Amino acid sequence: MRRVVVAITGASGVIYGVRLLESLSRVSDVEVHLVVSKSALKVLKHELDLGLDDLVKLAHKAYNDDELDAPIASGSFGFQAMAIAPCSMKTLSAIAHGYTSNLVTRAADVALKERRRLVLLIREAPYSLIHIRNMMLATEAGAIVMPASPPFYGKPRTIDDLVNAVVGRVMVLMGIENNLYPVWDDPPPHP
Ligand SMILES: Cc1cc2nc3c(=O)[nH]c(=O)nc-3n(C[C@H](O)[C@H](O)[C@H](O)COP(=O)(O)O)c2cc1C
Repeated sequence: MRRVVVAITGASGVIYGVRLLESLSRVSDVEVHLVVSKSALKVLKHELDLGLDDLVKLAHKAYNDDELDAPIASGSFGFQAMAIAPCSMKTLSAIAHGYTSNLVTRAADVALKERRRLVLLIREAPYSLIHIRNMMLATEAGAIVMPASPPFYGKPRTIDDLVNAVVGRVMVLMGIENNLYPVWDDPPPHP
């Protein structure tokens, strides 16, 4: 089994994290470890009218963000990739500065120190200089900072199309192939 960690934090766009869980749950050889921050629970309720129970069933293991003794808090527990979707500016800041006060930031810190793939699907608009500096620090430490901004060249028709285009790219960055989004391999001729 390939093992991955998915974290959902309290930025807008929790639908990205939910779609990531749904999509990973359809990949038979992937074991998903989930951690949801306390703030994410509020946004989940507000944006999707969902609770933790709705997400737990999409993962093999789920943890509270104060469970700092969970397996994913240790470098000795192997996982190939971690994605934080969406990733708030607070969590980005904590990761950039090594401030591991909850399980989301500790597991991300583990991913960086063990040189494992860490994808931060950040969501804020606009960015302050502090946000941009934290993106730079996280990138220099080895994370992949990905904006939660969908492409439009696939001619999306629905919100689902937009969400899938972003989540499909996150999965590829985690090393999980998928066909959630159209690949630009056959451009139409210019008029
Ligand atoms: C409805 C709602 C939407 C929010 N959207 C964002 C956002 O898009 N980006 C962000 O950085 N913070 C956003 N916040 C603020 C975060 O939830 C807040 O900074 C929180 O402390 C983040 O904690 P966490 O990273 O531990 O989940 C939002 C809060 C609420 C209630």
